[in-house]
Amino acid sequence: MKKIIAFLLNEYRNMLSTKLKQKNQRNKNDFLVKDDFNWKEYHRIYGKQLSELSEIHTQILKNGDYVFKNKELALNHDILPLHPNHRLVYETLLQLSPNSVIEVGCGWGDHLYNMKLLCPEIKLSGIDLSDKQISNLRKRHPELRADIKQLDITLPYPFSYPIHDIAFTQAVIMHLKVGNSHLIALSNMFRYATKQLLLMENWTAHDFLDDIKFLFSKNMIPWKNIYFYYRVSIEFNKPHLMIISSVPLKKYPVLTDYSILRD
Ligand SMILES: C[S@@+](CC[C@H](N)C(=O)[O-])C[C@H]1O[C@@H](n2cnc3c(N)ncnc32)[C@H](O)[C@@H]1O
Repeated sequence: MKKIIAFLLNEYRNMLSTKLKQKNQRNKNDFLVKDDFNWKEYHRIYGKQLSELSEIHTQILKNGDYVFKNKELALNHDILPLHPNHRLVYETLLQLSPNSVIEVGCGWGDHLYNMKLLCPEIKLSGIDLSDKQISNLRKRHPELRADIKQLDITLPYPFSYPIHDIAFTQAVIMHLKVGNSHLIALSNMFRYATKQLLLMENWTAHDFLDDIKFLFSKNMIPWKNIYFYYRVSIEFNKPHLMIISSVPLKKYPVLTDYSILRD
């Protein structure tokens, strides 16, 4: 009797383990063939997301809404605050004080518009994969003085394209899930900028620190040196933004343990 029960238990365990393997395999395959969105249709979802966010956050700044003083970007008027992620990205860009900045996956252009308002002398560029996103950007910000192009960050870098001091993303690479596309996108971003990359991403989507270290170790990043830092979001009270620099930056804490971003 004992032998029969042991046999049945063993069979049951094997069956569970096979099912689990099949499930993992399916998830892994999904992961390999699809980004998080169908980018051709994404402008509709994005429009809804912006409209929902507008209930709780200011998206398009006006003169004097925020001031950059003592290295901090602070609310100056009685308006809805910026989304904490956006405020942290703008504040860090202002602290680093670049001459030129490119946003990869610029969507409808609010970040470029806001940066121009906060620092009119910065030379700005934006690229986005989607024509629809770009035509909406042009409708939403017809006056925006920035070089906007349709470009896929996962395609080889076009050598005629201008190089900037800083390249940044906000919620872009976290969504790239087809094969190695996020690695190619990351590697390309280092061609668009010579001084720093700022990444505001979902840190659980990829291991960004490990991936960039891997690319650097394989000479797939055209920088001589690489340094990793992070910034804490005062609103969320946790490490939230990743700064990758070609030169040492004294003012930011060094990022060694990636889990502090994930927690
Ligand atoms: C979640 S939205 C974020 C948009 C903007 N950064 C923001 O914070 O509002 C992601 C954007 O990345 C763009 N995108 C997706 N894949 C891309 C690629 N391979 N190259 C360039 N842009 C891409 C999408 O079209 C979309 O506008």
